[in-house]
Amino acid sequence: MSAISNAASGSFKGQGVCTGVVGLQWGDEGKGKIVDLLTARHDVVVRYNGGANAGHSVVIAGQRYALHLIPAGILSPGKLAVIGNGVVVDPEALLKELDTLTAKGVDVSGLVVSQNAHVVLPYHKEEDTLREELLKGDAALAGDSEPSIVTEIGTTRRGIGPCYADKVQRAAGVRMADLLRPEILTAKIKIAAALKNPVFVSRGKPPINVSEVVERALAFGKRLAPMIRDTTYLLHEQLASGKRVMFEGANGTLLDVDHGTYPYVTGSSTAAGGIGPGSGVPTQRLSSLLGVMKAYSTRVGSGPMPTELFDAVGEGIRQRGREFGTTTGRPRRVGWLDLVALKYTAMINGATGLSVMLLDVLSGVERLQVCTAYSIDGKATDRFPADSFDLAKAKPVYTTLPGFVEPVTGARKISDLPPNARNYLDTIERTVGVPLAFVSVGPDREQTIAVV
Ligand code: GDP
Ligand code: IMO
Ligand code: MG
Repeated sequence: MSAISNAASGSFKGQGVCTGVVGLQWGDEGKGKIVDLLTARHDVVVRYNGGANAGHSVVIAGQRYALHLIPAGILSPGKLAVIGNGVVVDPEALLKELDTLTAKGVDVSGLVVSQNAHVVLPYHKEEDTLREELLKGDAALAGDSEPSIVTEIGTTRRGIGPCYADKVQRAAGVRMADLLRPEILTAKIKIAAALKNPVFVSRGKPPINVSEVVERALAFGKRLAPMIRDTTYLLHEQLASGKRVMFEGANGTLLDVDHGTYPYVTGSSTAAGGIGPGSGVPTQRLSSLLGVMKAYSTRVGSGPMPTELFDAVGEGIRQRGREFGTTTGRPRRVGWLDLVALKYTAMINGATGLSVMLLDVLSGVERLQVCTAYSIDGKATDRFPADSFDLAKAKPVYTTLPGFVEPVTGARKISDLPPNARNYLDTIERTVGVPLAFVSVGPDREQTIAVV
């Protein structure tokens, strides 16, 4: 705990504290569980990046909740849950999520959505799928007969990349506020249609029907109107009145559009650096940054993963860890812990504490391998090449640690853990150079060790 609370005395005295919770691998590290746990110590929980590509599972007293766009803080009554301007919001997915949570008895009245968050429209999802299909099958795309070395990204097909692309290209980018402004909305969707329809039609896809898209978007806007706000001023007001704000990262640092394994990344700044632009709260306000990591590695979609396992050990981890995507149900790729990657992502984020998740999944693995260096073109390095084509050449150099057979799901303090599990955690802490803050030994809120 000290690793995150010591730093919290910070330099903005008299004003609310800001905490960041960010994934240090390729997503699905267990951010949702930790955000839920830490919500008790915060007043406001903010999503600053990503969209419905995210899937954050939280288990409270045996009940499982799957969140995609809504911050996990919504599960704790009386908190403010903010979807910041850096998120790309699919209104249809958001309304579905609100309905599902409401049906489970969750009070969703604390949710607000930035008026400046961009809107994922049906044609973004079409575009996402079209791009993936082209990259997957069409060697002729580049005028070649050989398959391209740039393959499909393996996106969630939730329209994330195309929506961020429209935001950056500007004129056609639709913001949440536009769902309440029919004239502006129509003008923007007309531009989108003019730009995108020639491609859709040439690929045999139906063109964008402007009036149909506008009508549906306005209907969603009507339902969402009470939640659409200027969240930048709202967050600064909260901070000025001493409230504690937590930023919930989506995806993982290795999927960051700048610092991840480009081009096999998502469309946003997933790392802590995305907090400022994605919320309007300056990133330097962060007093602590919790890096969330699994006790092993997983990845969904394409791209290199140096420690990937293709054997029975990997399959065992996949089954015990229920490593199937919360959003798409795809089996996750599984591998040994990659400490080269983790040292890099802890550095990129300025992590002040580590939360090691799913330690229980490693119970029964006889010998644990951790990657402590790469060999690239015959040279050893402990630097992470944040480019997929360079990373693809990296061969892992492993250190072998003794495993533990005892179940650990009942451990509630570090001393409850078997010595080999403690040794494994010590190796992580020492190599990454960031203190442990939490260890998670099961999906439930209760199955957590706070490291003092
Ligand atoms: P997120 O996207 O980072 O929020 O992570 P996900 O929710 O997509 O994936 C993490 C999965 O692991 C979820 O199914 C969690 O319920 C589960 N989980 C979290 N912590 C633990 C843990 O310590 N042990 C086990 N067995 N499962 C966990
Ligand atoms: P959470 O928040 C795991 C991956 C996709 C794909 C790449 C790009 O649950 O950790 P996109 O649809 O974003 O354009 O896909 O990024 N990806 C994730 N993988 N967890 C996520 O989110 C992810 N969000 C995106 O599988 O490889
Ligand atoms: Mg997930």
